[in-house]
Amino acid sequence: MVLLIYLSVLLTLYFIPLSITSPCIMERGSLKAAPAIIGHQGAPMLAPENTLLSFNRALQRNVSGLEADVTISLDGVPFLMRDRTLRRTTNVRRVFPDRQYDDASFFNWTDLTSLNAGQWFLKDDPFWTVQYMSTSERWSVGNQTVCSLEQMLKLAAKSKSLAVFTLRRPPANHPHRHDWVNLTLDTVLTSGIPQEQVMWTLDSNREMVRSVAPSLQQTSVQKLPLNTLHHKGISRVLLRYNQASAQDVRLYNENNISLTLYSVNEPWLYSLLWCSGVPSVSSEAPQVLRKVHYPLWLMSPDEYCLIWICTDLISFAVVLGIFIFQNYHIIRWRMSGMRSYNPEQIMLSAAVRRSSRDVNIMKEKLIFSEVSNGVSSDEPYMENGFNYYTN
Ligand SMILES: *[C@@H]1O[C@H](CO)[C@@H](O)[C@H](O)[C@H]1NC(C)=O
Ligand SMILES: *[C@@H]1O[C@H](CO)[C@@H](O)[C@H](O)[C@H]1NC(C)=O
Ligand SMILES: *[C@@H]1O[C@H](CO)[C@@H](O)[C@H](O)[C@H]1NC(C)=O
Ligand SMILES: *[C@@H]1O[C@H](CO)[C@@H](O)[C@H](O)[C@H]1NC(C)=O
Ligand SMILES: *[C@@H]1O[C@H](CO)[C@@H](O)[C@H](O)[C@H]1NC(C)=O
Repeated sequence: MVLLIYLSVLLTLYFIPLSITSPCIMERGSLKAAPAIIGHQGAPMLAPENTLLSFNRALQRNVSGLEADVTISLDGVPFLMRDRTLRRTTNVRRVFPDRQYDDASFFNWTDLTSLNAGQWFLKDDPFWTVQYMSTSERWSVGNQTVCSLEQMLKLAAKSKSLAVFTLRRPPANHPHRHDWVNLTLDTVLTSGIPQEQVMWTLDSNREMVRSVAPSLQQTSVQKLPLNTLHHKGISRVLLRYNQASAQDVRLYNENNISLTLYSVNEPWLYSLLWCSGVPSVSSEAPQVLRKVHYPLWLMSPDEYCLIWICTDLISFAVVLGIFIFQNYHIIRWRMSGMRSYNPEQIMLSAAVRRSSRDVNIMKEKLIFSEVSNGVSSDEPYMENGFNYYTN
C-alpha cells in the first residue's frame, strides 16, 4: 500500500513538467524583436525623476520613448510631477514652508520655476547611485528645476522619440478643472512635436481630441474589448504588466494593437515579455534593460523535454538504488533461502531484528532439533543435554 502511494506520488512528480508552460519555451526562430523601451520619468535611478537631466540620461541609453506624469499648474501650465504635493521631489519646504502641504497644482508656474528639483536626490540618494557620480554630474543633478510638459515634448521631438504622459485632473475649485484637456492638447500642438510621436492616454473628450488632432496615437490605459478599441479609434494599449496574459498579448498583436506594459524593471520580466512578443515596455530602469541582449533561459521545446526526461531517469535510478541498498539484507536473505535451506542463517538474520527473548527461544528450538536429530537413541545423554541447556 505504502509502496503504491509512494509510486503514484513519484509518477505525478515525473509528469508535472508536461503541465508547465512558459513563453520562453519556444523555437528560437519565432522570437520577435526585443521590446522597445520607454523611459518612465526618464532614468530615475540615474538622475532626479521627471527632470530634463533624467530624460537625457534615458536618451543616452537609446530608449525609444519618454514617459511622464503630468499635473496642471494654477495658471494653466502642464508640468511634470508624480506626487500630489511638491514635498518629496523639490525644496518647497524651504522656499514656501507654509504651503508645503498644498496640492502641487495650486502653485503657479513662476513659483514652480523658483524651486530646485534635484537637491533632494543628492540628499536622499534613493537608489545609492550618487557615490558613482563625478563632481560635474552632481552639480547638474543639484541644478535641476521642475520640468514643464512643453520642455519634455520638445526634447522628445528633437530626439525623434515617442512621448507618453498620464495626466492628473486638477482638483475641484481649480481654475482649470474643466478645460484641462484642451489646455494639454494645445500644449502638445504648439510644442512642435509630430502628432504621430505622441501617445494620447486621456479618455475624456477623446472624440473631440481625435477631430482636432487626428494623427495622435490614441492610447487606452484600460483593458477594453477589441471592438470598443476599434470603435474609439484606439491603436495602442498601456497596461500594468500583470494585467495582460500571454493570450491578451497574442490577441492584441493579431489585431494590430500595440501593447505597452509598465513598470518593467527586472531583466527576467523583460525576458519573459520579450518571449511573449510584447512590442514595448515602460521602465524606470532603462539602463538595466538595455543590457539584456537576449532573453534569459530561452529554450526550445525539445531541449526542455530532454532536460526533464534526463532528470526523471536519473532521479528514478537514484530512488531505485536507495531502495535496493536499504533492503539489501532482506533481499540477500530471501535469495540465499531459496538456494539452500540454512537454519543458522535464518537465526542470524532474525537476530538482527527480533528481541533477545525471542532469539533465545529460537536458539533453544534449534538446538533441540539438532540434539534430537543426532543422538535420539541415547536417552541419558539427552537428559543431560536437556538439563544443561534449560539451566
Ligand atoms: C545608442 O545608439 C548609438 C547609435 O545607434 C550607438 O552608437 C550607441 O552606442 C548606443 N548606446 C547604447 C548605450 O546602447
Ligand atoms: C504666482 O503666485 C505668487 C504667489 O505665490 C504671486 O506673487 C505671483 O504674482 C504669481 N505669478 C503669476 C505670474 O501669477
Ligand atoms: C543652476 O545654476 C545656475 C548657474 O549657476 C544658477 O543661476 C541657477 O539658480 C541654478 N538652478 C538651480 C535650480 O539650482
Ligand atoms: C475645447 O476645444 C474644442 C475645440 O477647439 C471646443 O469645441 C471646446 O469647447 C473646448 N472646450 C473647453 C472646455 O474649452
Ligand atoms: C496595422 O496597422 C498598420 C499601421 O497602423 C497598417 O499599415 C496595417 O495595414 C494594419 N494591419 C492590419 C492587419 O490591420
